[in-house]
Amino acid sequence: MEFDPERLTPAERYKLLIGCIVPRPIAVVSTLSPHGEANLAPFSFFAGVGSDPMALLFCPANRADGGEKDTLANAKPADEGGTGEFVVNVATEAIATRVAGAAEPLPYGRSEFELVGLTPVPARVVRPPRVLESPACFECRTLRVVRLNPGVPTGGNVVVGRVVHVHVRDDAINERLHIDADRLAAFGRMGGSWYCTTRERFEMPMGAGALALDPASILPPRA
Ligand SMILES: Cc1cc2nc3c(=O)[nH]c(=O)nc-3n(C[C@H](O)[C@H](O)[C@H](O)COP(=O)(O)O)c2cc1C
Repeated sequence: MEFDPERLTPAERYKLLIGCIVPRPIAVVSTLSPHGEANLAPFSFFAGVGSDPMALLFCPANRADGGEKDTLANAKPADEGGTGEFVVNVATEAIATRVAGAAEPLPYGRSEFELVGLTPVPARVVRPPRVLESPACFECRTLRVVRLNPGVPTGGNVVVGRVVHVHVRDDAINERLHIDADRLAAFGRMGGSWYCTTRERFEMPMGAGALALDPASILPPRA
């Protein structure tokens, strides 16, 4: 099938994006309102940007009424009315249901931490708390917000953050900064209401060296 996005509804475009861009890592984003109330929400339109400066991005779409989601209202820069800070906590198997639960749209100022039973603990550098139960957390200062469709229902936004501190639980990393994927046990989002683990992995070199390999010999067997 071929698709012209202009002839699709936003809901249809969304289905194509979330079904084809898989698996997506999940950022569990903690923020504080300018009044100091904690907020927590998952975002799977999420990626690293680069290592110099160390930066990442996530994409909180506008609400159905065109307004900003609480996370965006809190994380946008101070000169736009936010706090300019957020923490990305890695979503892991042990807290999977609580991560999905944090997507519950609570009234502005009510904390999803309490609703889902995750524990806010002080971050090192920024004011929003990190999630105690997450083994890896990136404390960020907001570099900029790119608004693709301001005020329009489901309009897209990109929040780019500079990482100012990283926490990794000691048992999930070694002295060479290699992360133990089994200890991290991150999970990701697929299409619809499907998710995946990171337990099936395979290794190959980058570039021409990969071309010499038979995919069947390196990929895990299909169920
Ligand atoms: C796993 C998962 C991933 C999500 N990813 C996104 C996303 O990338 N962008 C988005 O706008 N909403 C996403 N959502 C929905 C938000 O989490 C939801 O709208 C939430 O209520 C926003 O909270 P807030 O208003 O406190 O910021 C996702 C939900 C789940 C469960």
